[in-house]
Amino acid sequence: MSVVILGIESSCDDTSAAVIRDTRLLSNLISSQKVHEEYGGVVPELASRAHQANIIPVVDTAIKQAGIGINDVSAIAFTRGPGLLGSLLVGTSFAKGFALARNIPMVDVNHLHGHVLAHFIKTETVDKHPQFPFLCLLVSGGHTQLVVVKDYLDMKIVGSTIDDAAGEAFDKCAKVMDLPYPGGPVVDKLASKGNPLAYSFAKPLPQGLDFSFSGLKTSFLYFLRDQLKENKSFIEQNKEDLCASLQHTIISILIDKLVAAAELTGIKEVALAGGVSANSGLRKAVTDAGKRFGWNVFIPEFKFTTDNAAMIAIAGYYKFLEGSFASQDIAPLARMPF
Ligand code: KG4
Ligand code: ZN
Repeated sequence: MSVVILGIESSCDDTSAAVIRDTRLLSNLISSQKVHEEYGGVVPELASRAHQANIIPVVDTAIKQAGIGINDVSAIAFTRGPGLLGSLLVGTSFAKGFALARNIPMVDVNHLHGHVLAHFIKTETVDKHPQFPFLCLLVSGGHTQLVVVKDYLDMKIVGSTIDDAAGEAFDKCAKVMDLPYPGGPVVDKLASKGNPLAYSFAKPLPQGLDFSFSGLKTSFLYFLRDQLKENKSFIEQNKEDLCASLQHTIISILIDKLVAAAELTGIKEVALAGGVSANSGLRKAVTDAGKRFGWNVFIPEFKFTTDNAAMIAIAGYYKFLEGSFASQDIAPLARMPF
C-alpha cells in the first residue's frame, strides 16, 4: 500500500504544505510572507500571526492540488525545529490537531534534515538522487554546514560556521548596501552583471572544516564606510561590482571547505542544499569543482532550495517507514540538535 504524507513547514517566514505519495511529489504550496520586507528582516511576532492566518488555506490548497482527499493521508510530518518558536508553534499545533482529528500518526522533522533529504523527492523531471554516503554542503539563512549523510536518518556534521551563516553574510551585506530583504537573491542578480575581482574582502578560513563569515561582513562594512567618505554615491555607482565581488568571496570560502571535506572523507558524491544553493554562482562553482575533482554532483531544483514543505514530507516519509512517531505532548524547539 502506498504511503501519503502531508508535510508542514513553518519554521521562519514561509508557510508551506506539501503532499507526497511514497517519494513522489503531488503538491507543494508555499505562501511567502511579504509583511517583513519593510522591516528589512523577519519580525518573529508578525511571522507567527501570518502563519496562523495562512496555514489552513495553504493546507487546503495543497490537498486539493494533490488530487487526494483528507482521508488518504497516512501521516502528518511537521518541522519541530530549529526556527522561530512562535512560527514553529503554529505548524506543530496544526499537526497535532490534524493527527488527533484523523487518528493518524505525526512525525516530527528536523528542518535541516529536510533540506538534506530534499534530494530524494521524485518529480516529473527528477528521478536521480545521491548514493550513500554523500557529502552535503548545507547553506541557508541560519546554517552553514558540511554533512556526511550515511543514510536517510543517519547524518553527521563534519564542519560548521563558528559565527554567521552564508545566507546571513549575503543578507547583512545587502542591507549595508540598502538592498531589499532577503538580500541573497538580489545580490545574485546584480552580481551577474559585475566583475567578481573588482574588490577583495577578508576571507577568514578557520581551521579544519569550519566556516566563518563575520570577518567578511565587517571588512565589507568598513570598506564601504571608507569609500563613502570620498564619494557619497559609491554604492550606487558600483553596486554590480560590489555584489559580484562579495558573492565571489562567499563562494570561494564555501568551495575551499567543500573541497577539503571531500578530500578528507574520500567521498565523491557531493550535494548542495538550503536557500543559498539557489545562488547561480554557487551552483556553477560546485558543478565546476565536480568536473575538476571527479565528483558526482547533485544540485537541487530551485523550488527545493529555499524553505518548503516537500522536504519536510520526504524526511517524514523515511521516519514513518521506521515507525518513528511523535506523541501529542511534543513541543517545538527553537534550537534543535542536529
Ligand atoms: O533555507 P532558507 O530558505 O531558510 C533558512 O532555513 O534559513 O534560506 C534562506 C536564505 C536567505 O539568507 C536568502 O538570502 C538566501 O537563502 N538565498 C540566496 C539566494 N536565494 C535565497 N542567497 C544567495 N543567492 C540566492 N539566489
Ligand atoms: Zn531552511
